[in-house]
Amino acid sequence: MVPVSISPCGPPIPYDLSPMDPNLLARYQSSSGAAAYRRKYERSWIRRLSNRRELAIVDRALDRAAAAGRVLDCPCGAGRLTPTILKHADEVVCADISAPMVDEAREALAPLEQAGVVSFAVAAASDLPMEDDAFDTAVCHRLIHHMAEAQERAGVLAELARVASRRVVISFSDDSTWKGRSQRRRGVARKRSALMPADLFAEAAAHGLTPLGKPLRLNGFHSLVAVAVFSVGSART
Ligand SMILES: C[S@@+](CC[C@H](N)C(=O)[O-])C[C@H]1O[C@@H](n2cnc3c(N)ncnc32)[C@H](O)[C@@H]1O
Repeated sequence: MVPVSISPCGPPIPYDLSPMDPNLLARYQSSSGAAAYRRKYERSWIRRLSNRRELAIVDRALDRAAAAGRVLDCPCGAGRLTPTILKHADEVVCADISAPMVDEAREALAPLEQAGVVSFAVAAASDLPMEDDAFDTAVCHRLIHHMAEAQERAGVLAELARVASRRVVISFSDDSTWKGRSQRRRGVARKRSALMPADLFAEAAAHGLTPLGKPLRLNGFHSLVAVAVFSVGSART
């Protein structure tokens, strides 16, 4: 397997490497914000339920990807997805632009790090310090809906396609869902950017990513969240 080269958890990464809303990014980059994000999905029964359903979709996406071996989880946030990814992988590398967020993930996943199946890096998704084809699959969950411009998403799609040898799994806000259509009809101002699946597929195709089936949806009625699975370059199996 190609070795993964990872930068140590050092100083904060400059804001201009993340096109996310600066106020939100500042929250994720702070210790208190990172700690709050770690607890976010435990705070109420509705959040616990939505967390369970979201992890189930990621699980299905990784099944569809037939993910195996070494998998990238970027952005890892506080490590919420990592145990689910490990059901499909021998090893997970968790990367995030926020050092405090990586610290939270490291604390949450300490037994897995000790077991040698999880490692960490502070890195921007558009500038990953890993070799080409370092992973079987790259998972990018809850990032690109923060990117309003196609050019910003392109930087991330290019890097995911470069470091993954077989599959890329990406969540996005799906504008073709009932909620998406309803928001558009009512002219609701959105905090996050939503995409039609065909538009995401076209953007991904520019980086050699081919969709494997339709996006998996969390819930077309209540949520915009969808997860798309892509085959990388000529890797069709
Ligand atoms: C909503 S959280 C999602 C975390 C995790 N995937 C989850 O679902 O729990 C978004 C994360 O993206 C990270 N982030 C923002 N811009 C980034 C970038 N350009 N590269 C890598 N991580 C980034 C933030 O620090 C934050 O941890």
